[in-house]
Amino acid sequence: MSDFAKKIMITGGAGFIGSHVVRRFAENYPQYFIVNVDALTYAGNLENLRDVEHFSNYRFEKADIVDEKGITALFEKFRFDAVIHLAAESHVDRSILNPLAFVRTNVLGTASLLNIALKFWKASFASKLFYHVSTDEVYGSLGQTGFFTEQTPYDPRSPYSASKASSDHFVMAYHHTYGLPVVLSNCSNNYGSNHFPEKLIPLMINNIIHQKPLPVYGKGENVRDWLWVDDHAAAIDIIFHRGKIGEKYNIGGFNEWKNIDIVHLLCSIMDRKLDREPGTSAKLIQYVVDRPGHDMRYAIDPTKLNEELGWKPSLQFEEGLEKTVDWYLNNEDWVKHVTSGDYQKYYNLLYGKR
Ligand code: NAD
Ligand code: TYD
Repeated sequence: MSDFAKKIMITGGAGFIGSHVVRRFAENYPQYFIVNVDALTYAGNLENLRDVEHFSNYRFEKADIVDEKGITALFEKFRFDAVIHLAAESHVDRSILNPLAFVRTNVLGTASLLNIALKFWKASFASKLFYHVSTDEVYGSLGQTGFFTEQTPYDPRSPYSASKASSDHFVMAYHHTYGLPVVLSNCSNNYGSNHFPEKLIPLMINNIIHQKPLPVYGKGENVRDWLWVDDHAAAIDIIFHRGKIGEKYNIGGFNEWKNIDIVHLLCSIMDRKLDREPGTSAKLIQYVVDRPGHDMRYAIDPTKLNEELGWKPSLQFEEGLEKTVDWYLNNEDWVKHVTSGDYQKYYNLLYGKR
């Protein structure tokens, strides 16, 4: 392992965004050794990484980021140079049902990881980096106008965003207090392949396939700013390599959509792809009780990332949505497995004997 230029712990690598980040780093940087550390909660799925699992520069370790002993043992074993931290509880609706699970993983887990990294790295911070992946939801909710910039004060309003905001503050506090080399990014809503089907876009796609009701919260007028997941992974790559220590970067593609407009767009794309009469799927739309405290609008200003590091999104939303729909139509088994818990069998089969 000493042959590798860097040993990187990627937490949450079996999840939606994490799996795209792991793949990108394992494929593009054969000189790096990537250790994917994931507890495999309901949202983590090793099937996301089937194509990468036999790479010689990749390895999976099942561990809970809150487990100080387990994570310390991994640091002892691998002597990491960097952490890219994505592991989190990530669903707003679940945070409303069970906020303490979010405090545990997102706040305690992040603080514990920071503490361990500090312990191992404090003799010399040279060439070390703790990269924390966060969300635009920490900034709160916008009215009809304006954008979140890196200077926007934090104003989290759901248990999820409060827990992420808290984790961001711990990351910055470890930098200011102890000098830990950190970088942080706050991204808008992601979409693409391997997205767990309880979030808006994959849920609607799955329900349209099975001709089930399409539950739109409130009037469907809430606005989100959507980014192709591979463009997020590309931004993380650039920030990891060229971001300034101690700084934060907003990631987004100036791509605002009302929820109801996305649902209609998906309905028309899928009527066409499934050879259904135009208008068939839209009949499934049902307006349901709104989410408590539902943030009205998110919109990111990514100018800093664009001007300082040259990142920009690669894909238009309509094209990305078509690709996403195609992926779900071609991977119905993936959806069945993540919703049935079958992927746990896959895990036992693959790792049970090791
Ligand atoms: P996800 O829910 O799909 O994946 C989270 C992963 O973390 C899963 O593999 C899960 O098993 C793992 N995990 C959860 N708790 C853990 C624990 N205690 N220990 C170890 N692993 C654990 O989430 P995602 O959508 O891929 O989001 C990844 C990160 O990006 C999160 O930090 C999230 O806040 C952030 N983010 C997400 C979005 C988005 O639109 N999804 C946007 C901006 C930022
Ligand atoms: P979601 O994918 O949960 O992401 P977030 O809450 O982090 O933005 O939801 C995106 C938007 O879609 C949000 O405004 C809530 C709305 N929504 C629905 O209208 N119906 C649904 O079934 C879901 C899951 C979300």
